[in-house]
Amino acid sequence: MADRPPSERVRVYEVGPRDGLQNEPTPISLATKLRYLELLADAGLTEIEATSFVAPAAIPQLADADELMATLPRRPGVRYPVLVPNLQGLARAEAAGAEAIAVFTAATDAFTTRNIRMTVDESLTTFAPVLARAGELGWWRRGYVSTAFGCPYSGAVSAERAVDVAMRLLGLGLEEVCFGDTIGVGVPPQVRAIVAGAEDAGIPLDKVAFHFHDTRGTALANVAAAMSVGIRCFDSSTGGAGGCPYAPGAAGNLATEDLVYLLDAIGLEHGVDLDGVLRAARFIADALGKPLTTKVGQAGGWDAATGQPTGRA
Ligand code: COA
Ligand code: ZN
Repeated sequence: MADRPPSERVRVYEVGPRDGLQNEPTPISLATKLRYLELLADAGLTEIEATSFVAPAAIPQLADADELMATLPRRPGVRYPVLVPNLQGLARAEAAGAEAIAVFTAATDAFTTRNIRMTVDESLTTFAPVLARAGELGWWRRGYVSTAFGCPYSGAVSAERAVDVAMRLLGLGLEEVCFGDTIGVGVPPQVRAIVAGAEDAGIPLDKVAFHFHDTRGTALANVAAAMSVGIRCFDSSTGGAGGCPYAPGAAGNLATEDLVYLLDAIGLEHGVDLDGVLRAARFIADALGKPLTTKVGQAGGWDAATGQPTGRA
């Protein structure tokens, strides 16, 4: 497939408040979460996955989702999707004033049965009325295909399998499908195989996003591979936290600061301010009581005019 000119705007889809926090043992207060969300919007992020309306026992860190969404001051032009696993979650999201949702299944039954206690087929049956109702409400809808690059319980996953699940999800009515490398094992040839499979299946590439974890250091290589074949939406977590408690071995998401540095240096338009991301990254690292260990979090950005780092505390 021919490389395309990197001309169109890239969407940076922030998952720090949801994926970033869901696996963190340190309880984070509602006020701290609201401040983190505010700093992320200050940094120019316009898609911020805010929380999850899942069973509180499954993800205790996000058990305050109702209060968070009810009190979160909405920033004009910013979308705040929330994770929803079933109609019970949708009802909570609606009551709390959400307007965008993400449902989540996976490429493997071995993962979904542990994460959401359903097979992939059962998850699609569960999501059908959720997505139909969200569509009636005029909400933006995303669907995740987790373990699209490999499963912690069943091993290798083919691109065909991941694309097949994506097609079935899209058939339920979605604005976007997101392929997740839940445990960070993916490499560029897999990215290209998924994109080629999606194109062959007739999925418009502007409906395709990728969600990489940097567990083995391949996340940015995967972003570059996806960009070269026309993908323009990437998930990332400011501060680089993240991982699913039901995916043993998952380390942090691709850090937003690392992604934004790359996009800036290539000269791609995205609307996010690196210094602002670094402020939010330091804020949440402090709240978690951890050093900021992301690459750009430590090194800062770089001013080509002076040769000096930028955005460091
Ligand atoms: N919000 C709040 N509570 C919920 C809920 C929701 N969306 N869905 C189910 N529950 C509650 C039920 O009321 C029930 O409570 P009870 O025991 O007090 O009666 C309990 O959870 C079990 O309900 P059930 O429908 O049998 O769910 P389950 O045990 O089969 O679990 C999920 C299914 C999907 C609800 C659960 O596995 C889950 O929330 N998983 C999310 C995991 C996740 O977020 N992973 C990280 C993202 S990758
Ligand atoms: Zn993730």
